[in-house]
Amino acid sequence: MENILSRRSIRKFTKTDVSDDQITSLLKAAMSAPSAGNKQPWEFIIIKNRETMNKIPEFHKYSKMLSIANLAIVVCGDSTKAFKRGFWVQDCAAATQNILLAANSLGLGSVWCGLYPDEEIYPQMQELLKLPKDIIPVSLIALGYPDEEKPPSERFDENKIHYEKW
Ligand SMILES: Cc1cc2nc3c(=O)[nH]c(=O)nc-3n(C[C@H](O)[C@H](O)[C@H](O)COP(=O)(O)O)c2cc1C
Repeated sequence: MENILSRRSIRKFTKTDVSDDQITSLLKAAMSAPSAGNKQPWEFIIIKNRETMNKIPEFHKYSKMLSIANLAIVVCGDSTKAFKRGFWVQDCAAATQNILLAANSLGLGSVWCGLYPDEEIYPQMQELLKLPKDIIPVSLIALGYPDEEKPPSERFDENKIHYEKW
């Protein structure tokens, strides 16, 4: 509970490198996510190359924090491995959230930047990362050691809860 309640989007990062072991832990967390029919239709692209990171905000205006992030992970869905129609998006969202929570527990900062289904963004990411046509980039996570602190969000709202029927 402490980890979930303290997670916030972090968009300012120090210059300290995230280690390869930490990246492996984040990916272990991602692949521990639930998925429909246990299809695990996810693929992960790790980006550390500055030139690539700097190109993304050119077509994704809400990803400017990438210029100071240590690395990015792009969570992609393999639409050919999907369980029924469309569940792969939810599977990738679950994997994304696991990465955010794992990052928080490791003392790292992260922010989820949405890609799919924005048709002005995700095809450009597909092209930049040379993804095969069935591999759809769903989210991008900017990561690094945090250079800002945020209080827990306190969003609990009883009005959102409905018992038995609406
Ligand atoms: C699907 C999705 C897309 C998001 N896209 C962006 C984004 O493009 N850029 C960004 O800075 N934050 C993005 N966010 C982060 C939200 O702005 C953030 O989660 C929200 O404001 C709540 O703040 P918190 O994460 O600190 O609790 C996204 C979050 C989700 C779940």
